[in-house]
Amino acid sequence: MRFLLSQELEPGMILGRDIVSPGHSFMLKKGVALTSDYISYLRSRGYLGAYITDSDSEDINVEDPISFSTLTEGITAVQNCDMEELMMSARQIVADLSKMKQLSIDIFDLRSFDDYTYHHSVNVAVYAVAVAMYMGLPEEELVQMSQAGICHDLGKQRIDIDIINKPDKLTDEEYAEIKNHPQYSYDIIKDNIELAAPVKQAVICHHENENGSGYPFGKEGSEVSLLTKILHAVDVYDALITRRPYKEPCAPVEAFEYLIGGEGILFNEEVVEAMRKVIPAYPLGTEVKLSTGEKALVVAHTDDPLRPIVRLFHDKCIINLNKDINADIEIVSEHFASTDNTGAVERLNEDRQAVKAKPLDIMLVDDSLLSLQQTEGALSEDNYHLIPLQSGLAAINYIKKNGAPDLVIMDIEMPTMDGVTAVSTIRNMGYDDLPIIFLTSKNTREMVLKCRTVNAKDYIIKPVRPAYLRARVAIALDASLER
Ligand SMILES: [Fe+2]
Ligand SMILES: [Fe+2]
Repeated sequence: MRFLLSQELEPGMILGRDIVSPGHSFMLKKGVALTSDYISYLRSRGYLGAYITDSDSEDINVEDPISFSTLTEGITAVQNCDMEELMMSARQIVADLSKMKQLSIDIFDLRSFDDYTYHHSVNVAVYAVAVAMYMGLPEEELVQMSQAGICHDLGKQRIDIDIINKPDKLTDEEYAEIKNHPQYSYDIIKDNIELAAPVKQAVICHHENENGSGYPFGKEGSEVSLLTKILHAVDVYDALITRRPYKEPCAPVEAFEYLIGGEGILFNEEVVEAMRKVIPAYPLGTEVKLSTGEKALVVAHTDDPLRPIVRLFHDKCIINLNKDINADIEIVSEHFASTDNTGAVERLNEDRQAVKAKPLDIMLVDDSLLSLQQTEGALSEDNYHLIPLQSGLAAINYIKKNGAPDLVIMDIEMPTMDGVTAVSTIRNMGYDDLPIIFLTSKNTREMVLKCRTVNAKDYIIKPVRPAYLRARVAIALDASLER
């Protein structure tokens, strides 16, 4: 079987895997021939795509990490917020994953807008347990990991669904309410004597970042457990690859670009590396385009997550991209990204309508011309008006004359005036809310703390991965990705 996006499905194609739906009122069984009605329904409900089976892909079998009944029971348990059922599901997820022949979570999930939170919770538990297994955690902690995963967003059910699914930018009040959900989740489980303390900590801290910039407490990496770090990273991964009413999905490889870019800042490095081993950047049954111009299907994995074994569509030739002989062949795109004509895959989450109406002004300040050009290059695909300047003083003078841009990306070490001083001057000019991202090659705790004194939105280490920078810029302009 292979995965096709909703827009690529055609009547007559044979479904290669069951599709589950909210309340299970709509479910398509493996083997069914798609009709135009089924396809329109899947598209209208936000399903990303479906697995189909055809002559190109009939030998590709993607192993389900958990059984269909474990999945549906898990979704129902989350939906009903039934602690007894949740505990059983958490154990069942561990039991199912232990039976996998190869610990590799290849399945693109098939879910609609409607059951996002429920389905997301089960997915996060699956990813988290798989990562914890790979990292060698003992059985007892695997169960705790699973419990934390399945319970982490229970508190979202206390938040108005219209805020959760709002397609537009959230107001400050709405975002503040979203940020209460780890506390709400914790409140639901805190008195449950069957849940161990590490589970409760992971749940309340699942939005904390390595550098202390997360919520609700602003704890740093050293203050939270490994379970919490795993939960945090896989939670963001699952959010990135999912289509939501307010954002398009990232391809897995793009999501990993983001996670790797955030290593040591948002995410724990070992956790991200373990994720790369068990969650393939190019899952089995994914269509890719090669630098040779040929289209191919991913048929097996290798030690390098970015260089799988593929089979060409046109002559069925097998190519192991991880062999030296094929070193000059690259995967240039995944159909996932290339068919998205809105360009939204990399935009993550900002209010596209508003951006289209008027490009946002982003000021880039860096004394190194090369650095400036790299930042400009990374942001050039998006619809921004970029204002490159080479010193803090130039930035201050520009703002005095023209007013503030929508965002400033500021280098720190500059010869005449350092970035933190420049920002502090700009703040003193009355621009208290102007979002600032510091971009620097210095990754020290002192520097992070210094940046915090001037209320920086973000702190990014150079050299930065373009996908990570674009995503962080989108978040600085609109934090709703983090909902
Ligand atoms: Fe959450
Ligand atoms: Fe979550």
